[in-house]
Amino acid sequence: MARLIDTIRFDTTIAEAQQILLHSESDLVILDAAGDRIGTISRRDVDTAAHYGFSRGAVIGHMTVQHQRGQDSDDAPHFLSFLRSRLAPDLWHLLTVAANQAEARGWQLFLVGGAVRDLLLNSQNEFDNLLIEDIDLVVDGGDQAADAGAGVELARSLQAQYPQARLEIHAKFQTAALLWHDDPVFKSLGVDIATARTEFYPYPAANPAVAAGSIQQDLYRRDFTINALAIRLTHSRGDDLLDFFGGRLDLQTKQIRVLHANSFIEDPTRIYRAVRFAVRLGFTIEPQTEQLIRYAIASGIFQQVRVRVSADESAPANPNFRAVTPALQTRLRSELKYVLQTSYWLPALHQLADLGALTCIHSSLKADAHLWRQLRGGETAMRMSNVECRMANGNPLPVWLFRLEILLAHLPPEHRAEAAAGLQLPVETSDRLKKLAAAEDNLSTAFLNPLPSHSVQVLKFYDVPMLVLVAVRSDSTLRKIIWRYLTDWSLIKPPLNGKALKALGYKPGAQFKQILEALMNAKLDGEIRDRAEAEVFLQQNFPLFLKPTE
Ligand code: CTP
Repeated sequence: MARLIDTIRFDTTIAEAQQILLHSESDLVILDAAGDRIGTISRRDVDTAAHYGFSRGAVIGHMTVQHQRGQDSDDAPHFLSFLRSRLAPDLWHLLTVAANQAEARGWQLFLVGGAVRDLLLNSQNEFDNLLIEDIDLVVDGGDQAADAGAGVELARSLQAQYPQARLEIHAKFQTAALLWHDDPVFKSLGVDIATARTEFYPYPAANPAVAAGSIQQDLYRRDFTINALAIRLTHSRGDDLLDFFGGRLDLQTKQIRVLHANSFIEDPTRIYRAVRFAVRLGFTIEPQTEQLIRYAIASGIFQQVRVRVSADESAPANPNFRAVTPALQTRLRSELKYVLQTSYWLPALHQLADLGALTCIHSSLKADAHLWRQLRGGETAMRMSNVECRMANGNPLPVWLFRLEILLAHLPPEHRAEAAAGLQLPVETSDRLKKLAAAEDNLSTAFLNPLPSHSVQVLKFYDVPMLVLVAVRSDSTLRKIIWRYLTDWSLIKPPLNGKALKALGYKPGAQFKQILEALMNAKLDGEIRDRAEAEVFLQQNFPLFLKPTE
């Protein structure tokens, strides 16, 4: 007997779907309010959702495979010509060359990711020549190219046409990149070419393993619906926008939505990405997605991985974890770096804190009023014209790193350096954080005596980044002294130098240093102002030295 296909509405709960699936062997087809098919859900999807506590959630948030939405409507623009009208002609030409080369091999080529998202987001704007610096392409080579790595082959052949671009190949991931640098036409363009793939994660937070797959599966492994749109660049008989997961609707309604319930467990750095996109685009994180974020954080996914690594340290017989964790920590570091150098870093950090996501950096990192004050203080310090935070190699301390140091300094002292090392921050940063508590102790004595020379005696042993870090964390008395030191006292020069002393007849020797220091202190404390006063000071305080006989 022919089976009837079970259909359910998009707002059916997971618990109800579970009941229905007790009597059904096939996947359930999900319909939208208008009765159109928008996706399917399997028993496994439903069980997973229930397992993660979403029994009362609607099935629409857990659909695993959905058919294309919005494409067959009459008003669907032809995205390819739309794309052509928005791109700089040279960029459009590049895409055409790539598409022709793919087509010649019987492959399909898609523009995916941020470029499609931004193109659709800016569709209301009048301006042309959309500035795109990162182009993500995916080649679907079908079975023929599963082993060969169609993406890599296409990148090679494209480079033959564009020899000025540098070719980078990541054979393991079947991806390649063409990179232009300071190019008169393409400026700093990067074109990533990937082979359509599905990724499966051997276990949560692992490096993804790659298997051959189609464009739909490739898009399904991505982070959010708005990033899972694709434009077909090779010849198509109609639809050139692929929207399997409702990304266009989410762009219109300004929602950040994951594609499936396990997304954050598979890649916890997506928590940071969700917030980054939400704040940058002025979107909201859709409620079920937010629940999934909170669930992933509560499950301690970051901590679990860290614990496994420390266990691994004492048990080298387990080689997998070591290879895995750096990947996760490296991705977290990139996300932190990315967000902390944007103009919207502070609201993003607030939202991350509200979600409890700062614990991804370290389980004991909690935001409170002190931390926000310190971060704002750090901004003031960076705007001070005389204060230059430089690294040991002379380069300026990057703002993102400085902001991250303030964050990590908020941890209990014993965890600071460990957290910095975990994020693979420069040794200098770990070192500073390691020495911070002792420095704070010592510097708290800097104002016990009101004379500037006394404060300078304590302050002069620390470099600028350490002093700034202490200043933003300290009470206003010490902070004022540190600012005064950095902007004024540390710039004061002694009224006489060694050479001048020699000319006055003082003999270089052990006392020389003492004399210079005394001169310097007197200058700092306002006892002497110029050379003449310095000479009087010398006669009064170091009269043992006789003036040379003419
Ligand atoms: N991606 C993902 N999960 C991640 C990182 C990236 O699914 N953890 C996917 C998304 O589809 C994303 C694409 O890879 O669109 C490219 O990633 P990236 O360049 O980091 O982001 P963009 O979307 O291009 O965003 P941006 O404009 O901020 O560069």
